[in-house]
Amino acid sequence: MTIILGLESSCDETAAALVTADGRILAHRLATQEEAHRPYGGVVPEIAARAHVEALTPLVEAALADAEMTLADVDVIAATAGPGLIGGVMVGLVTGKALAHAAGKPLVAVNHLEGHALSPRLADPTLQFPYLLLLVSGGHCQLLLVKGPGDYSRLATTIDDAAGEAFDKTAKLLGLGYPGGPQVEKAAKAGDPKAVPLPRPLVGTAEPHFSFAGLKSAVMRAAQSGQYATQDIAASFQQAVIDCLVDRTRRALARAEGVTALVVAGGVAANGPIRVALERLAADHDLPFVAPPLWLCTDNAAMIAWAGAERFAAGLVDDLTVPARPRWPL
Ligand code: KG4
Ligand code: ZN
Repeated sequence: MTIILGLESSCDETAAALVTADGRILAHRLATQEEAHRPYGGVVPEIAARAHVEALTPLVEAALADAEMTLADVDVIAATAGPGLIGGVMVGLVTGKALAHAAGKPLVAVNHLEGHALSPRLADPTLQFPYLLLLVSGGHCQLLLVKGPGDYSRLATTIDDAAGEAFDKTAKLLGLGYPGGPQVEKAAKAGDPKAVPLPRPLVGTAEPHFSFAGLKSAVMRAAQSGQYATQDIAASFQQAVIDCLVDRTRRALARAEGVTALVVAGGVAANGPIRVALERLAADHDLPFVAPPLWLCTDNAAMIAWAGAERFAAGLVDDLTVPARPRWPL
């Protein structure tokens, strides 16, 4: 069975994982840099890049030890080659190239978004192409028709902020700390989602695009007014995001004939109420709903190894000249 080593370092998590071509996760290791970035309220690229240099090689060794393997047992090296913070991407990609070169193994350069997009098939091996994917992370908010490895149609994207970015900025505004998404979700549990009137940008428009900048400004005004409790603002904000995601995804479903499932992936897919709302939408359309487990939704290397497995099986390998790309649309 083909064994793939995956490396991830495009944002603030350093990770290494080993998966098999039939979707068994043999080992997955992750080091988060949350503590290093917390004082700044966001990811500092240079601090991130240095931390990846320190963490990555020991994580590779630990993952191999967990699986009781050596590099010689690995068949394919898969590394994130973008998009992301370029210093971090370079650490992972160059490490992947060095390992591939030293061990004489093929290299697969993985688009981080493809890692998120294919991760649901690692979680649920029965999931077939094509499926409609709502990809919601800190840097991206897209609706994609996933037809196969390397084969995507983008139906919609955000015209300003990503959904995760909106969560992070709202958390900062409300003084809830970093990283923002989980903090807002926690605060929202104790709040009233109807307490604060907030806009639902682009809801009802024909193209299924997203926009969150206006929502963020409205949250800022609500916070500055001193009229509302923090929990109520958090709950109302989260409800507004849910309404936008559901409306836009419903639009896209109307255009995505023949899909086998509605799938959500990316860090924001870790949000409980968002998952519940999307599950209901899928049920309304008689479609199965697939959401990877929480640890597979946020950044990790198992999804990179898996995307490497799918690309390798499709004959898609890269040579050692492959570039690191800060921007790389799917
Ligand atoms: O996919 P990811 O780990 O990294 C990127 O590729 O961006 O996503 C991180 C994003 C952050 O914006 C974070 O605040 C958000 O996902 N996030 C959440 C939750 N957990 C993480 N947003 C809402 N609710 C959550 N529970
Ligand atoms: Zn990500």
